[in-house]
Amino acid sequence: METRRTFTLAAIGTALAAASSVAGAALAFVLGPLRRRAPRESAFLDFGPASAFEALRAGTSGPEEVVVERTVEDGYMTRRVKERFAVVPDVQAASGLAALSMTCTHLGCGVSWNGARKAFLCPCHGGVYGPGGNVLAGPPPKPLTRLPLVVSGGRLQLDAAALDA
Ligand code: FES
Repeated sequence: METRRTFTLAAIGTALAAASSVAGAALAFVLGPLRRRAPRESAFLDFGPASAFEALRAGTSGPEEVVVERTVEDGYMTRRVKERFAVVPDVQAASGLAALSMTCTHLGCGVSWNGARKAFLCPCHGGVYGPGGNVLAGPPPKPLTRLPLVVSGGRLQLDAAALDA
């Protein structure tokens, strides 16, 4: 008699433990995505003194490469990444300048400016972009990503939030 009661209580306890474990996992699965934050970067990325880009703004020099480092938060992970941009003239921007991402829109290789050909060249599959980032040849499906630059306190800056938009 005593053995049967002990067995029954043990079986009920085990069943309750298993049920709460499954319920906890299900709850974490459902609520987990709500706790994750979207990737974001709130800071402005500094491209240096705006006066350093006067020749570019005047159209007397080619695109200038700038490498910036930024913090990217993605879910629970935070990491530092370096990104390459080409500063190019932009008559529609108040600063007179825009930043082109130097990441190829085909499969993500890094492009480089070729002054002799006056084009951005991708070494991976022969993608060719014009000085404004438009596709001239090869497999890239769209132009290089163009981002607005602003001048603040005499510094040329890029709103990093635009990178994740
Ligand atoms: Fe640039 Fe393919 S990654 S052309």
